[in-house]
Amino acid sequence: MFDSMNPRRFYNEEADWEWGRRRGSFLSEVAFEGTFEYLDEFFPEDGSVLDAGGGPGRYSIRLAERGNCPVLLDVSRTQLRTGREKIAEHDVADRVRTVQGDLRGLPFDDDTFDGVCCLGGALSHVLDADGRAAALDELRRVATPGSPIVVSVFGRLANLEIILREGNLETTYPLLLPEARSGDYTRELAMQTYDEPDWTECHYYRLAELEAEFERANLRVERTAGFNGLCTMLDVDFETHEKEARGTVRELLRELREDRTVVDVSREMLAVARVPANSR
Ligand SMILES: C[S@@+](CC[C@H](N)C(=O)[O-])C[C@H]1O[C@@H](n2cnc3c(N)ncnc32)[C@H](O)[C@@H]1O
Repeated sequence: MFDSMNPRRFYNEEADWEWGRRRGSFLSEVAFEGTFEYLDEFFPEDGSVLDAGGGPGRYSIRLAERGNCPVLLDVSRTQLRTGREKIAEHDVADRVRTVQGDLRGLPFDDDTFDGVCCLGGALSHVLDADGRAAALDELRRVATPGSPIVVSVFGRLANLEIILREGNLETTYPLLLPEARSGDYTRELAMQTYDEPDWTECHYYRLAELEAEFERANLRVERTAGFNGLCTMLDVDFETHEKEARGTVRELLRELREDRTVVDVSREMLAVARVPANSR
């Protein structure tokens, strides 16, 4: 069995799964489309933008289709290979460039992009706090002054709920409070929680902590959102419901998505910030 705890190895094995994950269910679509609404609102209509930790490129493709020229950067070669196939299938190969690289040391000059995103938990996969601080500094450095930075990370409360629901409580319980306090899903925690861990190490956030990390990086948070909101902790198969009923649930989630309590319990929480105009 491969070592799932290392994010690069995990994503090298799981490129197809990652492409499917984004559209696999009603709630994953709500999260994907909701996230894209923020990109659509804050990103410039054209010009060069960075999709950091972009995996197989779902957001890069959508950004290219709306007029941007995205650079899709990822640490995983396999994700990028799948990304290039999908980019070609969607006919946007002339607009999207792929680059292998690490969030903590981006291979771009200062002030290169007019919009930067790092979505779907890529930042959460940097377990160490100094590494996450370095990554946020890098995202800010490569963005032009005044441009938007959109980041979404994994939420800690939702993950605790998953551990309580699915984990081996008899072996995990001594690690529950440390996990609630630190948010670090470590190798030790994974081994105690599951017989066969199949997820990789990552840091799960509380909302206030995400905001504090942005502030430290001199990024002013303008909006935050959580997409699955009240449904995050439910085990409901929305696909079995009528289209109209699903539409109303979608509206409900949309209406509540910027409520701070909802953001904090969401599986994925998003922050939109802006690089200060005088950041240099
Ligand atoms: C959950 S996927 C999200 C993909 C995409 N952003 C999305 O939302 O659909 C996380 C991605 O982050 C990448 N990643 C993890 N650690 C990274 C790092 N240090 N530098 C760059 N990419 C990283 C992984 O390879 C993976 O493709």
